[in-house]
Formats: sequence, C-alpha cells, structure tokens
Amino acid sequence: MPVAWKAGEEWNEGNGSGQSSGRDEEQEDYNTAFVVVVAFVAALGGLLFGYDTGVISGALPFIDNDFGLSPLASGLVVSSLLVGAMVGAGFAGRLADTLGRRRVVLIAAVIFAFGAIGAGLAPAVWVLIAFRVVLGVAVGAASVMVPLYISEMSPTPVRGTLSSLFQLAITIGILLAYVINYLLAGAEAWRAMLLLAFVPSVGLFIGIYFLPETPRWLVSHGFIERARRVLRRIYGDANVEGEVERIRRVERQERSNESGLAELLSPVVRPMLIVGLGLAVFQQFVGINTIIYYAPTIIGETGLATQTAILATVGVGLVNFLMTFVAIYLIDRVGRKPLLIFGLIGMIASLLLLAGGFFVGGLEGAPAWLTITGLLLYIASFAATFGPVMWVMLPEIFPLHVRGAGTGVSTIGNWGANFIVSLMFPVLAAAIGLTFVFGLLAVISVGALIFIIVLVPETKGRSLEQIEADLRDSVVG
Ligand code: BGC
Repeated sequence: MPVAWKAGEEWNEGNGSGQSSGRDEEQEDYNTAFVVVVAFVAALGGLLFGYDTGVISGALPFIDNDFGLSPLASGLVVSSLLVGAMVGAGFAGRLADTLGRRRVVLIAAVIFAFGAIGAGLAPAVWVLIAFRVVLGVAVGAASVMVPLYISEMSPTPVRGTLSSLFQLAITIGILLAYVINYLLAGAEAWRAMLLLAFVPSVGLFIGIYFLPETPRWLVSHGFIERARRVLRRIYGDANVEGEVERIRRVERQERSNESGLAELLSPVVRPMLIVGLGLAVFQQFVGINTIIYYAPTIIGETGLATQTAILATVGVGLVNFLMTFVAIYLIDRVGRKPLLIFGLIGMIASLLLLAGGFFVGGLEGAPAWLTITGLLLYIASFAATFGPVMWVMLPEIFPLHVRGAGTGVSTIGNWGANFIVSLMFPVLAAAIGLTFVFGLLAVISVGALIFIIVLVPETKGRSLEQIEADLRDSVVG
C-alpha cells in the first residue's frame, strides 16, 4: 500500500468515530417530500441505464434476422454500449466538477433520447452499433451523475436509502426491458423495443430541468446565496447556515490541494481511489452481467425450451428488482460493509452451486431446477448488497474536490470490467465450459470478499464532510 491506510479501524462503528461526536452535528429535520422527488427524478437515469443494457439480449435475435449478423457484429451490438459508457463516465466526472451536476444530467438526457431514436431507426448494422455507442455515453454519464446528484442532495440519515433508489431504478429498467422483450417477441419488433427508451429520457429531461443544482457544488463554486436557497428547500429554515458552514469548512481545507486527476493520485486520495476502483471493478468481476445479459442462454443450456427460458429470465429480473428493497431497508441500518460481506458469501455459495450443477449434469446439461435455484440465489445476493452498495459508496468515499473525477474514474473501471466480462463469457464458456467459468467467478468473489474485509471503510451515518475529515485525519494525523 502506498500510504498507511487504516480505514478498517478508523471508520468502523464502535471505535468512537462512528458515534455522534458533536464535532459535526448533522441536521435531522428535512423536507421528505422534496428529497424523495429529487431522488425519484434522478433515478430515471438509472431506469434508462437498466433498460438500455437489458433490452439488447431479447432484441438481438431479431436484429440478427433482419441484418444477418456475424458473431463479431453480434458481440459489437451488445458491447459497443459498454465502450460508450466508459467514455461517458470519463467525461461526466470532470464536466460535473466544472459545469455542475444538473447540467450534465440534462445533457445525458438529450443523448439518451437521441440514441434511442437513432438505434431504433438504424437502417444498417453499423449505424445501430454507432448509436449503441452514443447511448452508452449517456448510460455512462448517468451512472456517474445520478448517484452523485442524489448523494449530494440527501440528508445524512437517509443518504444510503435514497441513493439505493438508483440501483432500484436500474433493476426496474432491466425488468421492464425483459417484460417488453417478452411481449414484443411474437411480433419480432426489435425497433419498438429500442425506441421505447425515448419515453423515460424525456421524463428525465423535464424532471431535472425543474430541480436545482446541488448545494455542495454551488458552495464550491461560490454561489452561496443559491446554495442557501437549495438548503432551505431540503432542511427548512433551521440550520441552513450550519450546513453552509460545514460545506465551506471542508472546502477551505480542500482548496490547498491541487484538484482534478492529479489529486486523485496524491497520497491523501490514493487510498480512496483504490477502494473506489476496487469496489467498482469487483462489482463486475463477480460476474453479475454473465447472468443479466446471458440468462436465457444459461437457462437454455439445461435443456429447457426457449420460451420457458425467456420466462425464467423475467423471473430473474423480478428477483433482482424485489431484493433491492432489502438493501434499501438495511443500508442505513446495518451499514454498507456487513451487507457487502453477507452478499458475497451468498454469491460464492450460489456460484459453487451453479458450477456443481453443470459439473454433475455434464454433457446432458445441468439439472434445470438446480441451475435456476443457483441463478436466483445469486441474483438475490447481488441485488440486496453489492449492486446498490457500490453505487451508494462511490460518491461517499471521495473528497469534494475530486468527487466528480474520483467517481468518474471508478465508474470507468466498472464499465471496463463489464466490457471484459461480457465479451469473455461466451468465449470462455465455449472453451472451458460453464463449470469452470462459474468456478472462476467464485474464486474472484473470494478475492472481492477479502478486499472488502481488509480495505473498505464503513460510511454509514457520517456526513460526506465528516467522512472526508476522518479520511484526512487517518492519513495525515
Ligand atoms: C451493475 C450493472 C448490473 C445491474 C444489475 C448494477 O449495479 O452495475 O452492471 O447490470 O446492477 O441489476
């Protein structure tokens, strides 16, 4: 480790720093209706993320019918979005620090709409691939901006719960895509499947248009009066000055540092970057999207009919959605770290079950009930833990000045890892078989578990400013 990183001790509940120290009394009263509206509107970005990534599995066979796709072209139709997402996540982080969070979400909403129409009407496969890249830019930008926006608008006691709405929206988007795929499959209407993403993008644009910029960004750019107005809407009249002062204090301490990408590599921020990037990359390397993108294929391997496999996929989408509520309920109660640990244990167990199923089944195919049980257990474990917790934690662990850049870089890592896993899964499955692929994912998940136990701090119940101060103390002091 480049610097002594004592997150596990410093940030854990129970050693003093987790209890209310009186150092930074947090506002407990807030305007619930306003913050809930904010979170719901912003979460539409998550719905688009889920829909645009989930829709392609069911659209692909019909795109193939129309255009006659080579295996490479099929791969590109799926993964081009992930490449675009890396670009979008890269730009959004830095743009958000200069232009503001809200403006970047507005830009993303326009790109979402443009991408949906372009992809849905594409006259040739290369046009479709190009527009999937465009859509990816919006998905990537949303994946950075939405958690950041919600996180900075939320009062501490409910920050985790509200930020989890982003993941809930992703799972709704995926489920919606699965259901629409199922309903439109008879008509082979892949264009309609892709075009439908236009609708929520308009909702996102209109919603964010009427919402304010975050107080933290406003203060850090000197718009103190505007920040006060927003804080008043969040907290009412009481203690607005206290909030402004808290943000300013952290701001002043931060000013002395360089900002942007260079600062990400500075000794103070580097440990955070390792945690952020590690969480983001592991969230993909545990294999979630082998299931989200390829569930019908995996289930098909057990010998079930295609129609049944697609229906079972809707079941996977439903469990993914429903289990996110468990996270929403628990994240601000038991904390982020215990959730991650329990989730990974469940995921490792289910991956071993899947590997075992395909091992026992051999060439005849794994027993369908065992495979589906394994898939559902895996999805349930991910959806209640790693899925939401990663997105909630990213904006929490980076200091204000590099929050945009830090979440941006980590999110690029998430999309990059997603790209690698999604591209490699079919190749590895064909080369070494599903037993070994699931076995490999189980081993990687054990690595993720160790990483989390050793390096990831608990951020529950601390204001973003407090987390930052703790970090500075742990590294400097
Ligand atoms: C992940 C996505 C995944 C989704 C599944 C998200 O947290 O980042 O890659 O497809 O969860 O619900």
